[in-house]
Amino acid sequence: MGFRTDAIHAGQEPDPTTGAVTIPIYQTSTYVQEGIGKHKGFEYARTQNPTRMALEKNMAVLERGVAGYAFASGMAATTALTHLLLKQGDHAICSDNVYGGTFRLFDKIVRHYGVDFDYVNTSNPADVENAMRPNTRMVFIETPTNPIMSITDIPKISKIAHRNGSRVVVDNTFMTPYFQRPLELDADIVVHSTTKYLNGHSDSVGGVAILKHQEDAERLQFIQNAAGAILSPFDSWLVLRGIKTLPVRMDAHNENGIEVANYLAGKKEVKKIYYPGLPTHPGHDLAKQQMTGFGGMIAFDLGSLDHAKRFLERVKLCSLGESLGGVETLISHPATMTHASVPADERNRLGITDGLVRISVGIEDVQDLIADLENAF
Ligand SMILES: Cc1ncc(COP(=O)(O)O)c(C=O)c1O
Repeated sequence: MGFRTDAIHAGQEPDPTTGAVTIPIYQTSTYVQEGIGKHKGFEYARTQNPTRMALEKNMAVLERGVAGYAFASGMAATTALTHLLLKQGDHAICSDNVYGGTFRLFDKIVRHYGVDFDYVNTSNPADVENAMRPNTRMVFIETPTNPIMSITDIPKISKIAHRNGSRVVVDNTFMTPYFQRPLELDADIVVHSTTKYLNGHSDSVGGVAILKHQEDAERLQFIQNAAGAILSPFDSWLVLRGIKTLPVRMDAHNENGIEVANYLAGKKEVKKIYYPGLPTHPGHDLAKQQMTGFGGMIAFDLGSLDHAKRFLERVKLCSLGESLGGVETLISHPATMTHASVPADERNRLGITDGLVRISVGIEDVQDLIADLENAF
């Protein structure tokens, strides 16, 4: 079916008991069994929950994978993937400006289990090639990256990684499967923070991972149950509801994103702007090849902490807050908020300066957003 049809229907048959159009919230911890070993396929809710499984099936269809598994947060999903792919003595490569929490997980936790990480500019395939080792088991990329919006060539990186027998994981949170489908671009696994665009209404925290290979799917299902960081039935229901309008929301984010980026690009106070939809962006051509939209995430540099601080205190309609991808516009200061866990010199090297502001452009009337930004300038 078409993407819009799948977004609404995939994995969601009307409830067999009542015919309810919307999948119910199965708020139960366990299921009555008819006898020993005789049940309807549902034994205990950490292992199986119909609401969560509907979301997992829906996401597997949208990302073109064999299966998906939903977790308590985006970070819980990424943690489960480290359990799937890495063991003591392995090596992993990661984009050097991933979401700060991903870096924190790898550097402050997984590394201590005897896994080596290299952080490289994955926008440059030669850097990935040079970092590959015989024991590299995971190449983790975020494209576009958060917050600098640099673009990584998914097919090229996949080719390099696969030559070495490594899996490629793509964090597709910023684009969603509506604008980018990494598994069709030869990656092996997609991970999302459903907290962002998939849920889309800033009222749930969750994550999902979608797999291309059956063997990975079976192992991740085992890990999801064994480690237990599942998404709750209510959050699963919220995300399913959000996904029904994902295509229309993403189109609106994209339209507003392009207008706000063009407006910001013309302001003298903006020293640098990062938005893949602008022809001046270094990844613009590649973005046009592997994405069907540019989304609503923009970062721009106001030159100093003072300027950024004043600007962020003056906006009214744009709410100052961490997170992104909701219908409402959120604005943030990566250096002190989302990327505070990245060391300062590394932040500066990546362009996450003290003057950098990130905006998650919502779907309000764009003239109201621009008026708010103009007022802040
Ligand atoms: C690109 C990206 N990946 C992963 C995460 C982590 O997701 P969560 O906050 O749901 O754990 C975030 C959170 O901001 C993110 O922006």
